[in-house]
Amino acid sequence: MPLWKTKNSTFKGPRHAIRGAIFHCLGDPGPEGDTSKTEYFADGLLLIEDGHILECGPAEPALAQLSKNIPVTDYSGKLILPGFIDSHIHYPQTDIIASYGTRLLEWLNKYTFPTEARFDDPEHAREVAEFFLDELLRNGTTTAMVMPTIHPTSVDALFSAAQKRNMRLITGKVLMDRHAPDNLRDTPQTAYEQSRELIEKWHKRDRLLYAITPRFAPTSTDEQLSEAGKLANLYPDTYIHSHVAENLEEVAWVKELFPWSRSYLDVYDQFGLLRERALFAHGIHLDETDRKRLHNSGAALAFCPTSNTFLGSGLFDLESNRQHHIRVGLATDVGGGTSFSMLQTLSDAYKIQQLAGRQLAPTQGIYLATLGSAHALYLEDKLGNFLPGKEADFIVLDTEATPLISRRMQACDSIEQKLFVFMMLGDDRAIYASHILGKQTYLRDADEV
Ligand code: GUN
Ligand code: FE
Repeated sequence: MPLWKTKNSTFKGPRHAIRGAIFHCLGDPGPEGDTSKTEYFADGLLLIEDGHILECGPAEPALAQLSKNIPVTDYSGKLILPGFIDSHIHYPQTDIIASYGTRLLEWLNKYTFPTEARFDDPEHAREVAEFFLDELLRNGTTTAMVMPTIHPTSVDALFSAAQKRNMRLITGKVLMDRHAPDNLRDTPQTAYEQSRELIEKWHKRDRLLYAITPRFAPTSTDEQLSEAGKLANLYPDTYIHSHVAENLEEVAWVKELFPWSRSYLDVYDQFGLLRERALFAHGIHLDETDRKRLHNSGAALAFCPTSNTFLGSGLFDLESNRQHHIRVGLATDVGGGTSFSMLQTLSDAYKIQQLAGRQLAPTQGIYLATLGSAHALYLEDKLGNFLPGKEADFIVLDTEATPLISRRMQACDSIEQKLFVFMMLGDDRAIYASHILGKQTYLRDADEV
């Protein structure tokens, strides 16, 4: 039971409290849904000071002890969760989500590259970045690792928009010096210089973090990957963000382009790009050696269920990665992915597990979308649950979001069942509010009179 040790607080800012049902994870509940890794308060209270969690526990004893002057936001009847963390998404692809009929390499050429070429225009980049972050918050995603384009303007636009919203966000200029249209190619030198400038400008400014971002091995020469490795070594506390082993045609192409490599993952390894705070999207077609290497290096994978099915790429082996103790985050991968909603993403994640003859426990699903993604991004000391000292990014889910959800919820007699209903039937309509550092930054019904 929490002690409400309010006197011992190291923070000195204003306090407020949030009341409602509260669920969060303390670790990975796994496919069995281990309840010792989760905490649920049917009538809970979050005590927040200066944008950070001071305490989380049952409401009544806390309210009896707290000063009557503390303002309480009452979400009784609704469910409070840590904000979702989308570990891999492309903001320039907002306008090509739901593009018909192709697999990865054709999809890149036909839809992705033409739309990304527009981001040399700062006004276009700004407009899309604003829409994109509003859409994340509407879907209960409070932090994301984001791929922009090769244009420094696209990085400035996204960081500025995130800074305005006080969001914790990771991004960095995409590096591509081959196998892309003329207007989407940089060089090893400009990639290095522009990345350095952007790191100096943005990394660790407010809640913003920088990722060195070679798009994927086929669009970078050996020379450019080597420059990226130099940057990764020079700035060891930055992130590395890329794609690996998504599609079989892509894997075969990498073998042709880097004939000396043991595997696709090995290409990144040889250029010094496998390390802590490196995250690779997809990782569908990996072998045992790759998995051991991922674990030993501390690099993470992003599980992108809606994208992996939409682009026909394959089925991510979540359980094998778990057995190898590899850090795995959940990701929408918009616009290869088909939804900004992490709830919809969990619905596809569950179905992919079913196709492999396994289950995804509802609590394991919520873990992946919150603390698991935080762990993959080396942010578990700051985000992912409601332990004291963490940043107070949280969301409020509506058990009466739609007539069907409301009806189905009435038949639930445990928090696990309710979480599963949200996973299968929920989307942006289920997100009632999103809070950043304690402050409400999105309210679903704000426009209603
Ligand atoms: N591999 C290289 N670029 C991309 C991209 O934009 N989306 C996906 N899904 N895979 C990629
Ligand atoms: Fe991607």
